[in-house]
Amino acid sequence: MPDQIEPPRSGLTRNAVLKAAMVALPAPLLAAAAAPASPAAETVPDNRTLSPTPQCDDGDDPTPSQMEGPYFKPNSPQRTALTDGPGVALNLSGHVFGITCAPIPDALLDFWLADDAGAYDNVGYRFRGHQYSGADGSYRLTTIVPGLYPGRTRHIHVKVQAPGEPILTTQLYFPGEPRNNTDPLFDPELLMTMRTVGNGRDADFDFVLDVDAGPGSPGDPGAWSAGTAYAIGDVVTHGGRSWRCLIAHTAVAGWEPSTTPALWRPA
Ligand SMILES: [Fe+2]
Repeated sequence: MPDQIEPPRSGLTRNAVLKAAMVALPAPLLAAAAAPASPAAETVPDNRTLSPTPQCDDGDDPTPSQMEGPYFKPNSPQRTALTDGPGVALNLSGHVFGITCAPIPDALLDFWLADDAGAYDNVGYRFRGHQYSGADGSYRLTTIVPGLYPGRTRHIHVKVQAPGEPILTTQLYFPGEPRNNTDPLFDPELLMTMRTVGNGRDADFDFVLDVDAGPGSPGDPGAWSAGTAYAIGDVVTHGGRSWRCLIAHTAVAGWEPSTTPALWRPA
């Protein structure tokens, strides 16, 4: 995709600015960061270790979706460290929330990104991997800052899915990147907050899924049944407990969750 001038945008939303500032900055700097809605203001090059604070206000817009692009591969390995080659270390963390700000445990997060040279591994699974959010909705990804490739600004692809809910496909962006101004896909609502730590970067991003309640709410998972097509992340009940689908498949008798650990794990 050729570089082109991006049409004017409305800028960061109030929620995005406040959330980014609350996560990234100590209190004395909050006012300064919230006033100018500039992505550059989110970069805080210092060496302090700051604990991310989950922030989600009722009425937050769901995280915007973006195109999948041509390089997604299903069945990535389950792992939180995508460190398959050289590059500037990047530690990304955050939370997965529902639309009412309830943290979503066991949400699937499937990341894929280019290597340091801007190339995707379309043969194997370098810099590809999925994980599940913790009981508090938190996730953590250890990887590198991906390289640039023609026509795009720097970005990370991700699919996020609450158990049994639709998949959010989107991309995360880096503040302060010159190509953010020319990549037509760039969306400031998808900017990670970022700071330099030693020779690497720490980044935060909280996903807000358009899901009313966290998984496990009454009536949420259905009973497992043969003949039903299940997708990765679907949650069912069987044998008095909940199970999450690991591999998309159509269930047949004999593939009950309790006997097929390759297909299901306890949710
Ligand atoms: Fe990409």
